[in-house]
Amino acid sequence: MRYLVTGAAGFIGSHLVEALSARGDDVTAIDLFTDYYDPALKELNARTFEVLRIDLAEAPLSELVAASDGVFHLAAQPGVRASWGDDFSRYLRDNVLASQRLFEAAAQTGRRVVFASSSSIYGDAESYPTPEETVPRPISPYGVSKLACEHLARAYAGGAGLDAVALRYFTVFGPRQRPDMFFTRLLRALALGDEVEVYGDGSQSRSFTFVADAVAATLLAMATGKSGAVFNVGGGVEASVNETIELAEHISGRKLALRYRDPAAGDVKRTAPDTARIELELGWQAHASLEEGLRKQWEWVSEQLLPSSGIA
Ligand code: UGA
Repeated sequence: MRYLVTGAAGFIGSHLVEALSARGDDVTAIDLFTDYYDPALKELNARTFEVLRIDLAEAPLSELVAASDGVFHLAAQPGVRASWGDDFSRYLRDNVLASQRLFEAAAQTGRRVVFASSSSIYGDAESYPTPEETVPRPISPYGVSKLACEHLARAYAGGAGLDAVALRYFTVFGPRQRPDMFFTRLLRALALGDEVEVYGDGSQSRSFTFVADAVAATLLAMATGKSGAVFNVGGGVEASVNETIELAEHISGRKLALRYRDPAAGDVKRTAPDTARIELELGWQAHASLEEGLRKQWEWVSEQLLPSSGIA
């Protein structure tokens, strides 16, 4: 099989490309290498495969999509807290417009799309653990843009026959996690002896999901997900930010300098998925424990920052 992977040089995308290649599939990897974070890090993520620079918001897409057997659409302007103000135009362009153009091309060519949505579409959810049918009420512009992509997929399914599956990833972590995300900040600060900022009192919690588990769910969704399905992809264990700090200190054997500040606008207090649907329909569940995954991420950060330390 040949798959098109968008956002292939990103955190989850690069792991997905490697998993597809490892099982013998061909991959057309595309990425825009935007500068939300240092594009050199994306080059590093994608150092084992070739990536085409393609702007989904402008490039002709039909031939590209038609040349594949299916599309994994992971390209996005990410980041919950950066989505306020003028920067929202990036979220509109690289999430809403880019996805609309991709869905159009996929509907025309009859190709399946598995795409990255987000736990942030729930906002401060009505109930926990949160099932997929919960009314989405995002509290960040980023969450709104991701929800708009889900609605676009549904509109294209009804109006143009699009075959799409949406995955609501819950705070994915592991090697190559983006530099704006908490664990990478935390572990870099531990390695370098820097301070880390905690937004609010650190009691907010996330159901952190290890990247290999997220990739496994993504592959299953392409293979066996029902057309139009929406799945929570969430780690089994919930932890507060303060608990993850303790764990990271334990793993690294180092002590962190912390600075608590005001909560960040758009951050939800808690995420916790109900994963009954994905367990039943895709036979998926998270395997990696938080400690196991965080150790792997610590090794990755250490390799980059402390090459001679022997930590990794
Ligand atoms: C993450 C991703 O960044 C989104 O792209 C994704 O869509 C989302 O998960 C999701 O699951 O839907 P977030 O949960 O905010 O968003 O992930 P982190 O950036 O790793 O933040 C985790 C927690 O750490 C948040 O509660 C945040 O308030 C806190 N944090 C983050 C800090 O206290 N300090 C920081 O410097 C960064």
